[in-house]
Amino acid sequence: MAFDFTRYRRIVVLTGAGISAASGLRTFRGPGGIWDDAQVAECGHVATLWARPQRTWALFGAMREPVAAARPNAGHRALAQFEARLQPEQDFLLITQNIDGLHQQAGSRRVVELHGNLRTTRCSEEGCTLEPFADDASYAAGVPRCRLCGGVLRPDIVLFGEMLPMQALSHVQQALQDCDLFIAVGTSGTVTPAAEFVRAARYAGAHTVYLNLEPMRPRHPAFAEELLGPAEELLPRWLGTA
Ligand code: APR
Repeated sequence: MAFDFTRYRRIVVLTGAGISAASGLRTFRGPGGIWDDAQVAECGHVATLWARPQRTWALFGAMREPVAAARPNAGHRALAQFEARLQPEQDFLLITQNIDGLHQQAGSRRVVELHGNLRTTRCSEEGCTLEPFADDASYAAGVPRCRLCGGVLRPDIVLFGEMLPMQALSHVQQALQDCDLFIAVGTSGTVTPAAEFVRAARYAGAHTVYLNLEPMRPRHPAFAEELLGPAEELLPRWLGTA
């Protein structure tokens, strides 16, 4: 399985919930997925934050405990070691859809958190000057309010119906423009724009790899290669960091 990574100069990796499954965190779809409960899925939408913020906190506040208890697994560590061993002329970007912060904990440095980070809380009021702050509170007892403006405090993540952070998106688009290797790990490829990054990579001429427990059905035409198996086992071997 020796894959020659030395021939690639612009490597982009996209990860999803599947890479954190071995750290004990639930995925959103598939067996036992968080979104299996439609009620809960409704809490993932920004309209719920506006109308009934206690429901938003009921879902994401409850996620904070397992996220705080989770530790990086061999898949996270393999990506961090792979990045550390790259040659200076090799660019690398790890784009994660995950909000658990485990890639950074594993030592990955060039990380874009496309959907934010659950370990941070911010004010939901436009124009409020409160800085987002590290926070592991679950707020099960009630909706937290901003000490500066009294507005509703919210988890610092992207909810359904919201735009992605512009800075993150432009960083991603720049990296995809001239990437020559694109690897998607543990993502169902169901949420845009992340699900279409592979098309941009293929358009740039990249070799595109889909690494997942399950085969992609339907297979996205932009993927050239499919590696099937658990990321926590496959990545250390395939990246040569085992
Ligand atoms: N190794 C590799 N892949 C795995 C593993 C594993 N050990 N376990 C599960 N998977 C795969 C599943 O087969 C599935 O394709 O991980 C994927 C998880 O898919 P989702 O739960 O849909 O997670 P993700 O793709 O990250 O969702 C994208 O949707 O709900 C929103 O904002 C949320 O960031 C999330 C986005």
